[in-house]
Parts: sequence; structure tokens; C-alpha cells
Amino acid sequence: MASDIAVNNLDHLTWGGVDTVLLAQKYGTPLYVIDVDMVENRALSLKKAMQKYYPNGEVTYAAKALFCKALSKLIAKVGLSLDVVSGGELYVALEAGFPTERIYFHGNNKSQIELEMAVKNNVGTIVVDNWYELTCLEEIAAKEAKTQKIFLRIAPGIEAHTHVHIQTGQEDSKFGFTINDSLLAAKKALASQYLDLTGIHCHVGSQITNLASFTLTAKTMAQIKAEIEKAFGLNSLELDLGGGLAIQYLPEDPLFSPEELIEAIYKGLPDPSVKLHIEPGRYLVGQAGITLYTTGSQKEIPWVRKYVAVDGGMADNPRVALYGAEYYGLLANKPSLLAEEKVSIAGKCCESGDMLIFDAKLPQIKPGDILAVFSTGAYNYSMASNYNMLPRPAMVFVFGGKDKLVVRRETYSDLLLRDVE
Ligand code: LLP
Repeated sequence: MASDIAVNNLDHLTWGGVDTVLLAQKYGTPLYVIDVDMVENRALSLKKAMQKYYPNGEVTYAAKALFCKALSKLIAKVGLSLDVVSGGELYVALEAGFPTERIYFHGNNKSQIELEMAVKNNVGTIVVDNWYELTCLEEIAAKEAKTQKIFLRIAPGIEAHTHVHIQTGQEDSKFGFTINDSLLAAKKALASQYLDLTGIHCHVGSQITNLASFTLTAKTMAQIKAEIEKAFGLNSLELDLGGGLAIQYLPEDPLFSPEELIEAIYKGLPDPSVKLHIEPGRYLVGQAGITLYTTGSQKEIPWVRKYVAVDGGMADNPRVALYGAEYYGLLANKPSLLAEEKVSIAGKCCESGDMLIFDAKLPQIKPGDILAVFSTGAYNYSMASNYNMLPRPAMVFVFGGKDKLVVRRETYSDLLLRDVE
């Protein structure tokens, strides 16, 4: 992570070769800034690692981590597929012209309308989560006279070592068919002339730092795949193991490479002929993103804590309040000043839980300084809200020293767009 930090001759933090202080002046704060080159490099190294172990493999970006039209176009350009989880994400992908055959539609409670939208728009694969969906989808595909490719989502009973709210593969989970139901579900799918069962899927959790979880998942899913294939005389079901690779939030956090991820999977599934799919979200965009804030009020409680407030907070980054996430920050307008103070960075929402960083080591901060918070590319913009009627920040792409506004800042009048009275 430290290697991502670059400073120019004005002693300003640069991101993607662009002066972040100038970005703050040009677009205002809070501001999401995404380094496009980093996203591209990570996409390429994921594809390369996949190619090395599983030449038929496919890398799919999980849109839920960060999505807008510009990002959809970038993902299409680098040749990844796309995982969407709602009619809304699908709509953005369609509006951005994402190739529909490379879209995978996930979700544990897709509505009839969403399923119809997917089938009508020729979404490549629908990842069927449950019995209700299997029935609905068959009816919709029949009505449209189409054969819809599907994967079955299975909860493989694996507890990934991560925050309990972002574990998803364990037996007690709202997602997917139980292992016991997997054979029956496959039977039902195979019996339908409107459904084409091409693979099975699981996702055991997010921000996974224990690579052995991926080995175990691969091994378990390979067994389930083998059972289904044996029972129904199939031989080439595809295997999708979801996303989940952890990123660095703090400089001391471990950094994993795509190669280590795929190698861990290969240990559990040493068969290069398998068509493996992975669906990273956070890994692709998390570290590519920073958020720039302007500092404001301060409050010092002797012997207790010094608070420094910024012009954003839980409305643009709810992850601290939700998961106790930890972030690293730096003064973008004077990054090389000695970090001599212990301060806690608070947001501006009317709620004590609205904190961004506890006990950060930073230089003396004055109102009007620019604070950069790192690793905010994933699950910040996508989870942002208008809590306290704060307009959501703008998003800028930076690449090779240039910047481009891709999502404009919300205005006060945007806040009333949907009020009808
Ligand atoms: N595939 C499926 C089916 C998923 O449910 C997810 C994430 C992914 C792929 C991508 O996982 P990733 O590579 O990004 O870990 N809001 C939480 C994260 C929730 C993740 C939900 N599913 C957070 O901010 O940590």
C-alpha cells in the first residue's frame, strides 16, 4: 500500500499521477478518486493468473463493489465479465452497453420483473438461488420461448474467516441451495427444456485473508460438482467460486496476489480442464479508490481523545459503523509532515457512530486541510446514502496524470427529484 503513495514537488499527494489537492479544488470534497490504471492492472493480473492454472477460466467483476456507467465500460474494455445482483445494476450495465452474454445475474430474491428483464435482454447466465426462482425462471423462459443458461448457487457449508456480516457460504445462510438440495435442484433444472444448467456457484465471504478457505471451498465444490455429474451423466459443469479476496486497508495488512488466490484454489481443485469462474469485486477496485475530504471542526477532550471532523463520513463510507472497518488516512496537502498527533477522524452526521478512523497518527491538522482516506474504492460509493440529506460525492477517474469526472456530485435539488408533493 505504501507503494501506492506518491508525492509531487509541491508536497501534495498524487493519485494516478494527478495532484489530489488540485482535484479537491476542482471538484470539491468529499470526492471519490479512482485510479483507472490500478483497476486495469489488477484485471490483467487476475486474467493472467487464471490463464496459467485454468486456461478456460473466466474472471467476472462483482458490480456491487463499485458501479456506474464509466466503470461498466472499463470492465467491458479490459475483457472481464460482469456479476449484477439487481435490476438496477443490470439496468446500468445495459445502459452502458455491456455485452449481455458476459453478464451473470445473482441474488437471493430476484423478482419476476427482474427475471423477465434479464431473460428479455439475453443475459448470459442467471445464477439461480432457490426453488422459487427455479420455478419462476422456467415459466418466464417458456413464455419468452428461450433456453436460459443457469448456474445453481449452493451454500457449501464453509465458514470463511471474515466478519460475520460478510460471511455467506455457511450452512445457516439465506443464500443458495443446501448441499442436500443440490442434486434435486439439478434434476429439476435438467428436466426443463427452457433451462440449460451449465454450472454451479458459491461465494463464501468477503475480505477473506485466509487463503486456505479458498482451497477448502474449491475442494468441497469439486465434490458437489462430481456428484451432480455422476448422478446425471454430465461431464463438464462449470464451477464458480465467487469473490472474496482481501485487500489492504492498513499499510500493515497483508497483500495477496491473484496468483496466490488461484494457486490456493488449484490446491483444492488440481484440474486445469475445469472451466473455473471467480467474481472479485473488492480486489479490483478497493485499493484503486481514495476519498478526499476537507477538515473542519476539532474537539479535544484532555486525556481522552482529539476529534477532527471532515465534510463526509458514514453517508459516503458506512463501513466503519457497519463492520468496524479500519482505514488509513494522510494529509494530502502536506503528506511529508511528521505525524506527531493522535487524532480520531469523525464524520459530519448527527450520530456518534459516524467515525472514519480511530487513533490515526497525523500531523497537526488545520481547518481546510485535505485528508485522503485510502482503500475506499469498494463498497463506499455503492453503499453511500443521503443520510442527514447529505448530497452524495462526485467520482473522478484518474489515469496517467489526467482526470475525468464520471459521476457528478449530487445537488440539493437532486435531493428533491423524487418528492412528488
Ligand atoms: N460474488 C458474490 C455472489 C458476492 O455476493 C460478492 C460479494 C462478490 C462476488 C464479491 O465479493 P468481493 O470480491 O468484493 O469480496 N458490503 C460488504 C461486502 C459485501 C460483499 C457481498 N458479496 C463490505 O463492505 O465489506
